[in-house]
Amino acid sequence: MEFPRKFYKDSELTFLWHYMMTIGEQNLPQQVLQPESLFETKGEKLVLEIGCGKGAFLCQYALNFPQNCILGVEWDAYCSNSTAKKIAKMKLKNAAVMRGDLFYFLRDLMPAGSIDEVHIYFPDPWPKRRHHKKRLALREGFLEQIYRVLKPGKRLFHWATDHEEYNTLALKAFRNFPNAKILQENNAEPTHGIETGFEKKYKKEGRKIYRSVIEFSKP
Ligand SMILES: C[S@@+](CC[C@H](N)C(=O)[O-])C[C@H]1O[C@@H](n2cnc3c(N)ncnc32)[C@H](O)[C@@H]1O
Repeated sequence: MEFPRKFYKDSELTFLWHYMMTIGEQNLPQQVLQPESLFETKGEKLVLEIGCGKGAFLCQYALNFPQNCILGVEWDAYCSNSTAKKIAKMKLKNAAVMRGDLFYFLRDLMPAGSIDEVHIYFPDPWPKRRHHKKRLALREGFLEQIYRVLKPGKRLFHWATDHEEYNTLALKAFRNFPNAKILQENNAEPTHGIETGFEKKYKKEGRKIYRSVIEFSKP
């Protein structure tokens, strides 16, 4: 079901943006997003992290790569707030977080050809069969939206999960997607040596981790 949504900046945590459903406001003005306006600095690259959790990867990436801007998208209010607080505490001008559903954010707000690189780490696996349709990477139109928002050229998509079945299905979807090629399959190292929050936890538990790098080519 479609709902009108509103995009607005958090009044207290200025690195936090919300793209949330609105009840009773049916005719919201058309929103055109200029992604660079989300950051306090200009970046050479715009990197997107999907489901950034509490921001462990996002903040470390922003610290290590001050020349790039990184946007995290996270629909959980507690997690997106934690990320925004971390960004503020670390005084990162090149990081921001958006609370809301990534799919609608991409579809409705992100201009085509605006993102250099995409990262998605440990997306919720929804193990119960009746929840499988909620798996983000397999959602209808997800890869099409990713492809649409990527800039032309060869663009990287970093993927990691601990869930074998979800991983197999996602790799199949990447393989079948036109203009996508798997560069590293299940054996990639943590991107730029940065482990995510869930990765640290799962490694301690001894879980196997499947990390891959996919390249999208766009004319
Ligand atoms: C298992 S956690 C992984 C967090 C982080 N990537 C890590 O590796 O530590 C998955 C995160 O994705 C978020 N998420 C799931 N579906 C989402 C969606 N459609 N839009 C935005 N965030 C989403 C969840 O709220 C959760 O914080």
